[in-house]
Amino acid sequence: MLSGRVALVTGGSGGIGAALCRALAAEGAIVAVGYRDRSELAGSIVQEIEDAGGRAASFPADLLVPRASELLVDAVESALGPVDVLVSNHGHAHRASFDEVDVGAWDETLAINLRAPFLLAQRVIPGMKDRGFGRILFVSSVAGFTGGIVGPHYAASKAGLHGLTHFLASRVAEAGITVNALAPALIEHTDMLPGDPGYLQRTIPVGRLGQPSEVADMAIAMLRNAYLTSKVIALDGGMHPR
Ligand SMILES: NC(=O)c1ccc[n+]([C@@H]2O[C@H](COP(=O)([O-])OP(=O)(O)OC[C@H]3O[C@@H](n4cnc5c(N)ncnc54)[C@H](OP(=O)(O)O)[C@@H]3O)[C@@H](O)[C@H]2O)c1
Repeated sequence: MLSGRVALVTGGSGGIGAALCRALAAEGAIVAVGYRDRSELAGSIVQEIEDAGGRAASFPADLLVPRASELLVDAVESALGPVDVLVSNHGHAHRASFDEVDVGAWDETLAINLRAPFLLAQRVIPGMKDRGFGRILFVSSVAGFTGGIVGPHYAASKAGLHGLTHFLASRVAEAGITVNALAPALIEHTDMLPGDPGYLQRTIPVGRLGQPSEVADMAIAMLRNAYLTSKVIALDGGMHPR
């Protein structure tokens, strides 16, 4: 299903993104590792995939910039070929209380976490339709259901991805494209844990933090399944039953 297909993973330099890149490479995908600042981490993922006999390349883009989404896909397609799998995983989590979030913080978070995933999807969908195959997966957060603890701007940006998932999925399903979202919570080995790990793990029914590889396992299951679309799947150790 995924072997030989070009998969773009944004936020590939982060904890969850690196695991997603490794898992896609293990499925035989050609992996485009998107990153913003951490070129060394993105480069080390590429090296690891190549050392294991796979194919990958890294691509910088600051997805706060509106045109960056289009330019990123242009660069990936020139170097590796048409993007069949988009995993929009990058994210910005600036912790702030309700009254601390000003217009700048709100706009920045919504631009990175919601506008960029939309623009990326808008750029890749026409080619996916032409080829009759596509997989789009947005990495959301349980905060999109519960509000979470990062802040109102973050929760709203992630809940927005859920609406975007449903809107797009129903319009591209006939073309062989699935659109889903994966909503993790409290994943270890990332820069996004909103607090002390020791305290946070006591709030999780399974009694521990989640692993990036567990998010990647779920992502691969979702990407392989052609009958799964318009779904938002939470992966949260049982924190948010639904
Ligand atoms: N960790 C958790 O517990 C948790 C829980 C729920 C949801 N999530 C979601 O999981 C996804 C992955 O996050 P993570 O946990 O792996 O955190 P992370 O380790 O902090 O990674 C964040 C990634 O996003 C990239 N990024 C941030 N701003 C960007 C921008 N303006 N343009 C392009 N890329 C940008 C970063 O790139 P550089 O480092 O290169 O700048 C990095 O690769 C995010 O969408 C996050 O909201 C995480």
